[in-house]
Amino acid sequence: MTKPITIALTKGRLEKQTLELFAKAGFDVAFMQDKKRKLIFESPDGKFRFLLVKAVDVTTYVRHGVADIGVVGKDILLEHPEGYYEMLDLGIGVCRFAVASTPNYDPNNHRRKRIASKYPTVASQFFQAKKEDVEIIKIEGSVEIAPLLSLADAIVDIVETGTTLKENGLIVFEDICRISARLIVNKSALKSNPAILTFINQVEQSLEDRL
Ligand code: PRP
Repeated sequence: MTKPITIALTKGRLEKQTLELFAKAGFDVAFMQDKKRKLIFESPDGKFRFLLVKAVDVTTYVRHGVADIGVVGKDILLEHPEGYYEMLDLGIGVCRFAVASTPNYDPNNHRRKRIASKYPTVASQFFQAKKEDVEIIKIEGSVEIAPLLSLADAIVDIVETGTTLKENGLIVFEDICRISARLIVNKSALKSNPAILTFINQVEQSLEDRL
């Protein structure tokens, strides 16, 4: 029997949308229903194995070849850009990176700014491109409170509906880029197992059919 294609999914909101997308592409993912707290699933026909992991760990599993394929947000890929091929924009989990702060923030103030973010690479690349030297403060979550408590002048963070910013009295000053979920693949698995490319092509075809 051939080895199953192992796919690392980002646990949570994205996982559900990804499975819906795979189902639309013609793959039977019914075995993923009623999953309780399980984290590894194998399809009854033995063709697929799904791993449910945290977003940042998707790239790790794919890079190490434990997973052949991964589905993860572009936000994570921008922070961890090495060791895989990015194959498809799945058009789900769409949001954006933005610079946000309290209304009195002045983006044109030349004083060296402190920028809090869960995404230090994205934040520093954005300000570097503007030739602005800033201090980046790495935060693990609830970044929105950093400007309220004067830990930082502004934040670089994900904006989806804008609700979190609004409820904390922050506004967007600059848009950085669009984010969406991407399908990534392990480099050597892509070369050695033709079934992986067939799977990716079938997902891509289904995305194109819906345009
Ligand atoms: C992200 C982001 C914002 C929020 C934006 O956090 O860091 O806090 O979503 O969404 P909104 O514009 O729809 O309000 P997430 O929910 O991923 O949680 P995390 O802080 O644990 O990463």
